[in-house]
Amino acid sequence: MTAGFPELRPRRLRGTRALRAMVAETALRPAELVLPVFIKEGITEPVPIGSMPGVVQHTRDSLRKAAAEAAGAGVGGIIVFGVPAAKDERGSAADDPDGISQVAIADIRAETGDDLVVMADLCLCEYTDHGHCGLVTADGYVDNDTTLERYASTAIAQAQAGVHMVAPSGMMDGQVGAIRKALDRAGFTNIPVCAYSAKYASAFYGPFREAAEGAPKFGDRATHQQDPANALEALKEVELDLAEGADMVMVKPALSYLDVIRRVADTVLVPVAAYQVSGEFAMVEAAAANGWLDRDKAIMETLTAIRRAGASVILTYWATEVARRLR
Ligand code: PBG
Repeated sequence: MTAGFPELRPRRLRGTRALRAMVAETALRPAELVLPVFIKEGITEPVPIGSMPGVVQHTRDSLRKAAAEAAGAGVGGIIVFGVPAAKDERGSAADDPDGISQVAIADIRAETGDDLVVMADLCLCEYTDHGHCGLVTADGYVDNDTTLERYASTAIAQAQAGVHMVAPSGMMDGQVGAIRKALDRAGFTNIPVCAYSAKYASAFYGPFREAAEGAPKFGDRATHQQDPANALEALKEVELDLAEGADMVMVKPALSYLDVIRRVADTVLVPVAAYQVSGEFAMVEAAAANGWLDRDKAIMETLTAIRRAGASVILTYWATEVARRLR
């Protein structure tokens, strides 16, 4: 070093593991992790998802076990995605009191009580035969306001099943307000809404669409999900969702949108969640399977980055594994 006195040597604080741990600015806690799970109606054995090694479509039994394991590891929450046996144009299974998501919510509540925050994804794409997030008009457009009625009714069905928090992910305008009103009218004033506020039209949802069997049969989601080029739009969506009563806001995906997470976290006075989506998971798993990445280090690095960007709640398919590692 050619610097004068005093010598500037940031490396001094990196000398030992204990020193590095002492000055670490960012730490992950199991309680802030949320495990996304898929439950499929009518199967007798869990079905592995090819593009998501280690992740399955659960049976009711295997889901109860997974929930118990997550709770045992200290994971904070679980978010349910239902895959019904039969789909139709209007996604009838979404708000059917006996629909698979409602059954799964009740099962998990029976298993883990209040130990895990039981959340439910609230969208129609897993339930419609066309795979779109809402009701589709004759010319193929996802109709906003008729879809809101379906979301409102689905929120009530999920609340009646025992969900602790609903998470609308369809990116319809006004969805948070419609759901909030419906929940309040039905007496569920204490059920919070975690809004997927800034949800991008992302290629990283690819593996999820296999898992949830919810790929659109025609067209794409670009008329309602956000353009990856835009960040201001995310702040606008967040602002509207908060005005409509969102209790938490979410940015999704996570790793390609760390700047958006940071800007949102700097702007709002509510917890910010980030969803490390299926493609982010698959990317690391695939590279690790090829011996191209140190899997465990890469997992921790991605999660730490998401936390550092400002997310205080992280949805990740690695939740249980990571929670165990953090203990
Ligand atoms: C919509 C929904 C999607 C994801 C979560 N909720 C898919 C989509 O918008 O196409 C993606 C999650 C992931 O990729 O892990 N119900």
